[in-house]
Amino acid sequence: MLLEVTDITKSFGPVQALRGVSLALRPGSVHAVLGENGAGKSTLMKVISGVFPPSSGEIRVGGAPVSWHQAEQARAAGVSTIFQEFILLPNLSVAENLFLGREPRNRLGLIDRPRMREESRRILARVGLDLNPDVLTGSLRVAEQQMVEIAKGVMRDARIFVFDEPTAALGDREAAQLFALIRQLRTEGKGVLYISHRLPELFDLCDEVTVLKDGQYAGHFLMKDTGPEELVTTMVGRRLDQLYPQRPAPATGVPLLELRAVKVEGLAGPVNLSVGRNEIVGLAGLEGQGQIEITRAIYEGHTLEAGEILFDGKAFDHSGPTGGIAAGIGLIPEDRKADGLFLPLSVARNISAGLLPGLGLGRSAPQPKAEIEAQVRRLRIRLRDTGQTIGELSGGNQQKALLARWLVRGVRLLICEEPTRGVDIGAKSEIYAILRELADSGVPVLVTSRELPELIGLCDRIVVVRDGATVAEIPGTEATEERIMAAAIRGGQR
Ligand SMILES: Nc1ncnc2c1ncn2[C@@H]1O[C@H](COP(=O)(O)OP(=O)(O)OP(=O)(O)O)[C@@H](O)[C@H]1O
Ligand SMILES: [Mg+2]
Repeated sequence: MLLEVTDITKSFGPVQALRGVSLALRPGSVHAVLGENGAGKSTLMKVISGVFPPSSGEIRVGGAPVSWHQAEQARAAGVSTIFQEFILLPNLSVAENLFLGREPRNRLGLIDRPRMREESRRILARVGLDLNPDVLTGSLRVAEQQMVEIAKGVMRDARIFVFDEPTAALGDREAAQLFALIRQLRTEGKGVLYISHRLPELFDLCDEVTVLKDGQYAGHFLMKDTGPEELVTTMVGRRLDQLYPQRPAPATGVPLLELRAVKVEGLAGPVNLSVGRNEIVGLAGLEGQGQIEITRAIYEGHTLEAGEILFDGKAFDHSGPTGGIAAGIGLIPEDRKADGLFLPLSVARNISAGLLPGLGLGRSAPQPKAEIEAQVRRLRIRLRDTGQTIGELSGGNQQKALLARWLVRGVRLLICEEPTRGVDIGAKSEIYAILRELADSGVPVLVTSRELPELIGLCDRIVVVRDGATVAEIPGTEATEERIMAAAIRGGQR
């Protein structure tokens, strides 16, 4: 075995994040770690990576027991980790990040920059990354930063690679590139630990899976011998009969939101789109075809160049700085960590805060505590108390807190970009049910998602965007991945 962890426990004060977890990693195996939000996956990876020691239990690498007090010791022993919230030093170049702390020196004892550059090029090429080693890491896209992290591991000849939700922030093409690289690591006999909430991805990529539930070991399966149902039942502890809520009969009547021949700055247009009072409408399309520009134009307005947006039958006032909010529109942004949450602040403060166009913190009056706590209960947000720092919550619970932010304000329409990114399957079904409940109560929802099955399962209608224009509209009950993709690639008739 490359790595054996036995009976690991870890507590944070009163919180027992891990309670006797064991796992064995074989060379040449991609080993998934699966579990609900808060199950302890990231904590286990941090123990394995030496970020903090376990409270008890044993770790063996290559058969020998290790005891790590810092991440550097794990790295030196061949463990390379791409964390859920990883950070390269943004103000250093790619080459400097790669060689941090082990820079090559010339005969005068000075850092040998030409050699650093040269070796960086070689290593980057090996992971298939065509990148100038001199650029600042902070200027790279998330996917590129991840690849630099991996390159760092490859360079140090790591034997164990840990990936904590690496695809949560990647587009399809970038994810495919990452999978190719992981398969290559497997061929070279490395061991890979891989965390993701996307089951299809696990079946595509992984050889085996260890399931955690409430900080405990819940099962181990070979991917070829198991299926999604068994895995979900193991991680959630009950059968999940229905991921998506029932769709009501198609809505009629005047739409609440209507975009007529809208042209958004930087997009070709036109965008024609309507959202009925009881509808969930999806925006689909290939990566970066204008979906986000459209949702932001509705929320912020100032990028509107032509056409009109009607809200509740009236031309939507885009002149003020709080256009979307003033009209009663809420936005849950795609990147909740960067744009939506204020990680150092409490859950209560995050829910209280409005989100200004430009995605700053709104200086709004605090919402009543009772109201906040009612929403926390309604959404089943798992936390100690609402005074807890939101950064300490697991991903799915952070996402629910964003929903709560708009529920306490009584929004009239909700825009959800990627409503379930990084959210476990149990919490997903809870979020879908809440969105459907909102639509039923007259608060419609406009959704973007990279996951087509999600749009198909959830939405009443799916509008396909291509080259900044709406090119097709498909009723949810008739939508298939093939139909959506065909429209997304070739366009289609409305
Ligand atoms: N630094 C910390 N301080 C206090 N509690 C923590 C800390 N880190 C994690 N926890 C708690 O430990 C538990 C396990 O969290 P962990 O981040 O390991 O979950 P996870 O399985 O990675 O979830 P997700 O899928 O949402 O990323 C949670 O209850 C979390 O709130
Ligand atoms: Mg995690």
